[in-house]
Amino acid sequence: MKSTIAEVAKHVGEEVTIGVWLANKRSSGKIAFLQLRDGTGFIQGVVVKAEVSEETFQLAKNISQETSLYVTGKVVEDTRSPFGYELQVNNMEVIHEAIDFPITPKEHGTEFLMDHRHLWLRSKKQHAIMKIRNEIIRSTYDFFNKQGFVKIDPPILTGSAAEGTTELFHTKYFEEEAYLSQSGQLYMEAAAMAFGRVFSFGPTFRAEKSKTRRHLIEFWMIEPEMAFMDHEDNLNVQEEYVSHIVQSVLENCELELNTLERDVETLKKIQAPFPRITYDKAIDLLKEKGFDDIEWGEDFGAPHETAIAESFEKPVFITHYPTEIKAFYMKPDPNRSDVVLCADLIAPEGYGEIIGGSQRIDDLELMEQRYKEHHLTGDAYQWYLELRKYGSVPHSGFGLGLERTVAWIAGVDHVRETIPFPRLLNRLYP
Ligand code: 4AD
Ligand code: MG
Repeated sequence: MKSTIAEVAKHVGEEVTIGVWLANKRSSGKIAFLQLRDGTGFIQGVVVKAEVSEETFQLAKNISQETSLYVTGKVVEDTRSPFGYELQVNNMEVIHEAIDFPITPKEHGTEFLMDHRHLWLRSKKQHAIMKIRNEIIRSTYDFFNKQGFVKIDPPILTGSAAEGTTELFHTKYFEEEAYLSQSGQLYMEAAAMAFGRVFSFGPTFRAEKSKTRRHLIEFWMIEPEMAFMDHEDNLNVQEEYVSHIVQSVLENCELELNTLERDVETLKKIQAPFPRITYDKAIDLLKEKGFDDIEWGEDFGAPHETAIAESFEKPVFITHYPTEIKAFYMKPDPNRSDVVLCADLIAPEGYGEIIGGSQRIDDLELMEQRYKEHHLTGDAYQWYLELRKYGSVPHSGFGLGLERTVAWIAGVDHVRETIPFPRLLNRLYP
């Protein structure tokens, strides 16, 4: 009977045939242990010399890493393995022999691994990270669908910049100038006025010359946008959403978290509500922690975010940033126009900002004033202004960076391992 590794639990005591690749092996004169993978999981195949043909045993001893084959054997429970099952192999049929697979079980340098990303993805660790990424995506749809949000797809090619013009990828759009989207937000605001509560999930592009463990040139963002929701409502949705994805990963990716040796006790604490501090308080906190140079009005860098996060076990919202350092569309605090109704959500354990969000300006005149201040002239932004002309309402939204979120939940140091084919400064291959 055909099976996959993920389905062997249904076949305990039965003989199954599974299409696999050989991940690793070790053997003695009498027994060979094959680490087999099929994409759905990893299982150990045991080949006992006394129980198979001489030809099969020789094959098991000599088979090379990443050779593809069909293995046939009996599924048995195995309490010693984290997976819980093993395969007592009685037959093997090679499909394609892999010769000199470059990524051996020994240590390799990062650049070497990045050059072989197309093969590195097969490793147990990378497999675990991508499965966690997949679970975060799945639970994102689950969360927003349950809450009645409509999935809306903003364009990738656009004439407008949401997050400032310095980090845009330019391209020609026939005779016109166009950019690759930095954020779908402006379009999601239009969608919120049509569907009430919406979310998007798609690639975004930033020509950032940053070479840090938190920056990608191409990354994926989840961007919810909600009509009739203010700053406070916005934070409530964010903490519920982030708690939901963390708890879903804990529930459905136990094996993967175990493979990555992730400390799950810290993740179990990630339940709404999350702590909230204002930017003003954050400045005080930083001064207390010895950042003497930081001045009110400056943006936070990675060391600041990490220092703030250290004071909390859960992600922390930093709210009410100075108007000057935030995007043009953010609504000023009605009690204090030098700060805006925004929040960045900072992950624990030094993983940095995972969400940026805000209540949006809904007043036409104020938005026109911002256009002037930010030199947003021309036709590209006219449509966005019109959203404030026809039944404008209070509305809010946010963007969660998928890769930073995966890095945090999976406990991976660098975002380059959280996306299948990372686009980094100086890396477009493979
Ligand atoms: O804070 P950002 O720039 O916010 C926006 O783009 C808003 N328009 C979102 C919205 O309100 N709809 O980006 C949102 C998140 C960040 O918190 C971070 O997690 C991630 O996107 N991010 C990056 N991730 C990887 N590499 C980069 N270069 C990133 N830049 C932002
Ligand atoms: Mg931000």
